[in-house]
Amino acid sequence: MSNALLERLRIAYPIIQAPMAGSSTVPMAAAASNAGALGSLAFGASNAAQAREALAQMRGLTAQPFSVNFFCHWPAELDADKDQAWIRHLQPYLDEFGGEIATPLKEIYKSFVADRAMQTLMLEQPPAVVSFHFGLPAPAVIQELKQAGAFLIATATSLEEARLLEAAGIDAIVAQGIEAGGHRGVFDEHVDAEIGTFALVRLIARNSRLPVIAAGGIMDGDGIAAALQLGAQAVQMGTAFLLTKESSANEAYRTMLNSPRAEHTRISAAISGRRARGIVNRIISEIGAPSAPAIPAYPAAYDAAKQLHALASAKGDHEFAAHWAGQGAALIRDGYSTAELIQVLVEEWRVARNRIQG
Ligand SMILES: Cc1cc2nc3c(=O)[nH]c(=O)nc-3n(C[C@H](O)[C@H](O)[C@H](O)COP(=O)(O)O)c2cc1C
Repeated sequence: MSNALLERLRIAYPIIQAPMAGSSTVPMAAAASNAGALGSLAFGASNAAQAREALAQMRGLTAQPFSVNFFCHWPAELDADKDQAWIRHLQPYLDEFGGEIATPLKEIYKSFVADRAMQTLMLEQPPAVVSFHFGLPAPAVIQELKQAGAFLIATATSLEEARLLEAAGIDAIVAQGIEAGGHRGVFDEHVDAEIGTFALVRLIARNSRLPVIAAGGIMDGDGIAAALQLGAQAVQMGTAFLLTKESSANEAYRTMLNSPRAEHTRISAAISGRRARGIVNRIISEIGAPSAPAIPAYPAAYDAAKQLHALASAKGDHEFAAHWAGQGAALIRDGYSTAELIQVLVEEWRVARNRIQG
């Protein structure tokens, strides 16, 4: 099968290990790239100094192409009244675990759009691929990155967003379906078309010149073959990698993923301030209940959630964690290294592809 995207990316297999801020690691990304897939470093929760260190570590572990990923949300407009109302809403839980939340809530992660130090680092040491989530940086930054030789990828959750990416000069589109684990890549947090991966891949493949990378609910070789059959040139898989040896998912997260509770995921903005899919736990079902007051902006709400989670987990309660996972979570496999998982996925994909091609 000819695949222009793989040639452009100089990778052997149509698999991108999704950037997963908080869960993917440099060793995971390096192992994915060394195994012939595209490894991704998630810098959405990093500052420029941390990113510089991660890049150096990565370059020590692989000479293969890799991707780095940024969040491009509109910088948070901090609103003290909204924050106070939210903390009042959290008070019963603070009483339950005996603690307080430090205020004012902070912008714990800086958006790439406002982080010139990070932009400069990318221009000094351009990786093969730079990817964006939650929209795009300014046109001038896109231009600079392209001139520096980076191949640019960005997430779209609708045809409308895909058209904006194409017009902005992006090179390939991640079609993120509603099944996907983690944050919805929607540009405007108040607008979500909620399209499934199946329909979204077809919509973008039919209407865009750009290569499509399918994301959301793909957990095995059959899923990869199906996505490619629909017109995607590669897949981006996140949840599938959460139980690999290189994942930084902690014991509680791993236990949850290995339990029947992985069959129940839901999208909620109550954890971070932006909608994201995770395994249903108390922070999603109780704190994010429809009766909740307005949620502070991303990432101020995340600051509150992380503080609450720290108080709860100190008492052995992990119900307030961000256990991000996609709708296919119950298909997750345990016990593999990243390289072994990629090998299994490739073998399964080849079998499925031969079956489809008859
Ligand atoms: C734990 C977790 C963290 C994620 N963090 C990021 C991130 O930092 N940047 C990003 O672009 N996408 C992130 N995503 C979304 C993935 O890029 C991708 O859309 C998603 O994993 C695909 O769905 P799947 O989880 O069903 O494979 C994350 C997903 C998960 C599961």
